[in-house]
Amino acid sequence: MSNSGYPIIEESNKLFQRASKIMFPVTQTMAKGPSQYVNGVAPKYIKRAKDGHVWDVDGNEYIDYNMGIGPISLGYNYKVVDDAIIAQLKDGITFSLMHPLEVELSELIHEIIPNAEGIRIAKTGAEVCSAAVRASRAFTGRSKVVCCGYHGWHDWYIGTTSRAEGIPQEVRELTATFEYNNIESLKSKLTEDVACVILEPFIFEAPKNDFLREVQKLCKANGSLLIFDEMWTGFRVAIGGAQEYFGITPDLAVYSKAFANGMPIALLTGRKDVLQHFERDVFFYSTFGGEALSMAAAIATINEMRTKNVPQELAATGKKLKDGYNALAAKYELASITACTGFDCRTIITFNASAGDPLIMKSFVQQEMIKRGILWGGFHNVCFTHTQEDIDMTLKAYDEVLPLLADGLKKNELAFLLRGKPVEAVFRKVGDVQKSFNEKAVLK
Ligand SMILES: Cc1ncc(COP(=O)(O)O)c(C=O)c1O
Repeated sequence: MSNSGYPIIEESNKLFQRASKIMFPVTQTMAKGPSQYVNGVAPKYIKRAKDGHVWDVDGNEYIDYNMGIGPISLGYNYKVVDDAIIAQLKDGITFSLMHPLEVELSELIHEIIPNAEGIRIAKTGAEVCSAAVRASRAFTGRSKVVCCGYHGWHDWYIGTTSRAEGIPQEVRELTATFEYNNIESLKSKLTEDVACVILEPFIFEAPKNDFLREVQKLCKANGSLLIFDEMWTGFRVAIGGAQEYFGITPDLAVYSKAFANGMPIALLTGRKDVLQHFERDVFFYSTFGGEALSMAAAIATINEMRTKNVPQELAATGKKLKDGYNALAAKYELASITACTGFDCRTIITFNASAGDPLIMKSFVQQEMIKRGILWGGFHNVCFTHTQEDIDMTLKAYDEVLPLLADGLKKNELAFLLRGKPVEAVFRKVGDVQKSFNEKAVLK
């Protein structure tokens, strides 16, 4: 049954072989694909899940800290949300006219999100980011964009990274990047042809020196719109997202992931005078924009989050993992080499390059965590139904794995201890964005 304690992943490997013949690449979501997991050790396909746990196609069970790469905020198979989806399914999925849930969801968002004078509903994060950029260009009559963070696969953004093949040079030149917490780096890019500044309010590093307010001031003075990309912060750091948490109201904001517990839906919120351009010559429509199962899931998820104060619970669970990890790193004299950082609701484990190759260290920890029943990608994306038992088991695993890391580093043999190809970085170059970005970008 056992493979020296590592899970047997025969069915995963068989599926992967079939996929490799016809799927280029085999994955639709980078963070779920083989480049992000130690080959030969990690499972490749998950079949089912419940609460904070997943089961792979070979029947192995893991505690999951990836949570569908963000959307699973309440937990897998969460009854209240699933019941809402099932009830809507009985009435239908997609219709030939508008659906009442579009109005109901928009009213709920209008009540919760500070800047939501107006709301658009769509399917994916990249889509609403692009819509926000287009609306900003129409509103200002300008063409340039300045960004900080990850904003999806569309041309205007991905042209700033090393994976920009297929994007015309003329398009690439329209977008510049700036560095988080470095206001001077924004100033130097903020020319009078900039339509908008789009940024993630935070990734893992907290804003310093009133950074977000300073960004807002600069945008106002320059006549550029400010867009918050709240894909990760929205409904997680507070129900009303980073806007509510920091008390800063951007002109536009975009949301996806956490607010529908796994269903595909995204939102653009913002100033009425900007959004009204969509009623005229700015085009942003799609077949599945008002698909009803996702809207039913969103309403049920948001109501549950409000009733149970889910952001507070996520922070409490995340803090236990963060503090626990850092205490263990100190116990094994690894505090200068590895740390768990970020806002409590979603943290990252970093490895210091001065001690060795961070991707080798990450791969080794992943391999050993998987052996101990934890599907580990270097993050704690916690959900509402991760239990105290899950946390205890995770910290117990760290308590076993970190001394192995320390020993492997001391003997300089980590790379030899890896049982497969290590994990890879997503981008070789990401413009000016902060250094944790490459690890963060692994999430796509
Ligand atoms: C901050 C941020 N913006 C935009 C996106 C793109 O969203 P999607 O993958 O749904 O297109 C992501 C995806 O992870 C994201 O994290």
